[in-house]
Amino acid sequence: MPIVDTFKSEIIAGLRETPKRIASKFFYDERGSQLFEAITQLPEYYLTRTEISILREHLPAMAERIGTGATIIEFGTGAGVKTKMLLEAVHNPRAYIPIDISREQLTHATTKLAERFPNLEIHPIFGDYISEISLPIPSDAGKNVIFFPGSTVGNFTPDEAIQFLRKAAALIGPDGSLLIGFDRVKDIRVLEAAYNDAQGITAEFNRNLIRRIGREFGVAISPEDFDHLAFFNSEESRIEMHLVSGDSRTLKLDDEEITFAQGEHIVTEYSYKYTPETFAAILTASGFSVQDRWCDENNYFEVCYATVDHK
Ligand code: TRP
Repeated sequence: MPIVDTFKSEIIAGLRETPKRIASKFFYDERGSQLFEAITQLPEYYLTRTEISILREHLPAMAERIGTGATIIEFGTGAGVKTKMLLEAVHNPRAYIPIDISREQLTHATTKLAERFPNLEIHPIFGDYISEISLPIPSDAGKNVIFFPGSTVGNFTPDEAIQFLRKAAALIGPDGSLLIGFDRVKDIRVLEAAYNDAQGITAEFNRNLIRRIGREFGVAISPEDFDHLAFFNSEESRIEMHLVSGDSRTLKLDDEEITFAQGEHIVTEYSYKYTPETFAAILTASGFSVQDRWCDENNYFEVCYATVDHK
């Protein structure tokens, strides 16, 4: 699958929109990935630790639902804690298929998992768009289960999430299923604190985009030139992350001049928050039916098991 480096053209296209946008996939350069790792450890950032606690408690029940001999598919590398927990719990997994846009990450993750699970067949797939992917395992070889943790589905808009999950359903076939984690709507103070930590790590993570733009385009611009802003938009039920330009400035990005007004915003991330009902509606619209759901004692986070509808 040919993948060209589209960083520059996508950054320029996003900054020419109104409001300006930067796609959140660009957060994850080396420093961004380290900062994100640090975010998941923050006291205010309850998501990762809560989801892990749900898995710890309910993985036996999840593995029961998944059944024996399943092929586990994951978008993103998944060398992480959650993947290992799932692969340990599932009965006789047929294979593990990580799908990622970074060859390096894929190789790294695959090597680590192969050490941990020497008898597991691992088929990494390098790719960006789900519609261009086909599975390397015959479909009669056991059911395909997509593991989609981390409330990553919340970084899509609801419409995008439905488009994505529909393609996911087509990929895994009629016997396929989905184990998916999402963040629930809750007290706005808890939500906003998670994206405005006291140590300022999330702010650094957000502003690292500016550092990356400076580096990749070779322009003099520093993370301190922009402020981090994160707030809950109740109407849309989403956390919004923005970067706010401290001054007015014009940047020459290759052949394009991009002008920022003082106080102008760049939207860098949405993180949608769902209720059990609004999320079930997303799954229904995508061709899945909820079979089971598990959450923590505070009702902060939910892991949901859904199967592809038979038409
Ligand atoms: N999906 C998680 C969330 O929405 C993780 C995440 C993605 C995130 N982008 C982020 C967390 C930016 C903090 C900032 O929370």
